[in-house]
Amino acid sequence: MSSTVYTSGETKEEVYQELLPQVKGLMTGEDNVVANLANFSAVLKEVFNYHWVGFYLVEGDELVLGPFQGPVACTRLQRGKGVCARAWESKEIQNIPDVDAFPGHVACSALSKSELVIPMINSTGEVWAVLDIDSDQYNDFNEADEKGLSELLSTLNP
Ligand code: SME
Repeated sequence: MSSTVYTSGETKEEVYQELLPQVKGLMTGEDNVVANLANFSAVLKEVFNYHWVGFYLVEGDELVLGPFQGPVACTRLQRGKGVCARAWESKEIQNIPDVDAFPGHVACSALSKSELVIPMINSTGEVWAVLDIDSDQYNDFNEADEKGLSELLSTLNP
């Protein structure tokens, strides 16, 4: 893969369709989780220029900050509080159009307006990490993002 991600798609669906083989290529042959999560974050930042995009990794009773792109973020997130924890505990995608309307939202940055969190589930059915994306626009995520990102993440799940 070249160092620059290639997309010419006009719709989100087209962009994700073009990204999938490139991300697969990027992950193929590399089994270091940190390296892959780091490059995955970089691809999403480069293509969509989100305010913040990165990973939180399950460690015991907490989520711990992993590779990301964007401003400095909260290092540890607790169970029962916030969008990432909700995705972790429910094993369901959290698509939040207005983070201020989400009770218990953990505001690492005042600029975040909407947020999408996708739980990453391993072969034994456990959540091992979450992908967290923060946008500085309200209502920035739709079903195309949920589907497209889930497909991209399937290249990472152990
Ligand atoms: N907003 C998240 C915390 C992580 S930051 O957005 C990077 C939450 O409510 O869990």
